[in-house]
Amino acid sequence: MEPTNWKADDIPSLQGQTIVITGANSGIGLETSKVLSKKGAQVIMAVRNLQKGKQAVEEIQKEYPDAKMDLMVLDLADFDSIKKFADDFKSKYPQLNVLINNAGVMSPPNRETTKQGFEIQLGTNHLGHFLLTGLVLDVMKKTPNSRVAVQSSLAHKMKRYLADINFDDLNWEKIYNKDHAYGQSKLANLLFAYELDRKLKANNIQITVAAAHPGFTKSNLQKDQGFIISEIVVRLLGQKVDMGALPILRAATENNLKGAEYFGPIKSNEMKGYPELVKSSEKSHNIELAKKLWEISEKLTGFTYKFN
Ligand SMILES: NC(=O)c1ccc[n+]([C@@H]2O[C@H](COP(=O)([O-])OP(=O)(O)OC[C@H]3O[C@@H](n4cnc5c(N)ncnc54)[C@H](OP(=O)(O)O)[C@@H]3O)[C@@H](O)[C@H]2O)c1
Repeated sequence: MEPTNWKADDIPSLQGQTIVITGANSGIGLETSKVLSKKGAQVIMAVRNLQKGKQAVEEIQKEYPDAKMDLMVLDLADFDSIKKFADDFKSKYPQLNVLINNAGVMSPPNRETTKQGFEIQLGTNHLGHFLLTGLVLDVMKKTPNSRVAVQSSLAHKMKRYLADINFDDLNWEKIYNKDHAYGQSKLANLLFAYELDRKLKANNIQITVAAAHPGFTKSNLQKDQGFIISEIVVRLLGQKVDMGALPILRAATENNLKGAEYFGPIKSNEMKGYPELVKSSEKSHNIELAKKLWEISEKLTGFTYKFN
């Protein structure tokens, strides 16, 4: 297939669209918010730290004074905060065109936990977004052609990052391996995205789900990885954040997707470049695995999805 060199200019006008993005104050989330604002969307920047959020809003407003942004508090490591965010959002907005599940935490050296006691990467990257999506699905059902866009990672299929779900110890209570916990959470993002797509289709619900990964992008994500990785490797080899934001922007805005598409950069083993359809691991498409993870996620979050 001919490369399309898809870029932010290819996004159609988003006037009239309401878009929620998690992790909006930093890195890819900030850049994505900027582009979506420029295209005219009402962007709800969901952040856990209002101070950082305000700085991000100011940064966008400097470039785009007409940007329509709303800062709302969302801590994905706390189910109560997610429920409050969903309630507050629904009391303010009658529609949700796009939900972008972007926030993430990577490989903290010591095992950390969420407010409800889950390992922080499982809890934030997967369970938090699982609950958030479920809580806003009703308003998305009422919004024509709505979309859930899910941010994953190349790590979902790399041996170093496990490339599997550790069902024996999902919560890393026996042995904590920071990278395995990250990889598990990023594979969980894809298993969730594809299973959500299957469930929506089975119930004739017109919400599309698409996923993406940003290759290797300069951001704050690798801040816990030590000086050499965070300051040298990322700075030298990582692509700029305007390129790193393109796959999730494409997943969030491209018209006429069928559902379950996965976009990533196509150069240098998917580490950089313009976004195209790329392949995720065989495991990410495993239906049994996805169903098992879904059931456990419902149990752990205490939230049951309703599709009818
Ligand atoms: N950069 C890469 O090369 C790369 C590669 C593969 C995948 N990704 C994925 O891309 C996504 C964005 O990462 P990034 O590279 O842009 O990193 P980043 O600059 O560190 O941004 C991560 C964002 O997630 C937010 N976040 C973390 N924990 C949260 C919580 N409990 N509640 C709400 N928000 C929370 C952070 O907020 P604070 O600022 O308050 O911490 C920040 O806004 C992540 O899902 C990551 O896994 C990135």
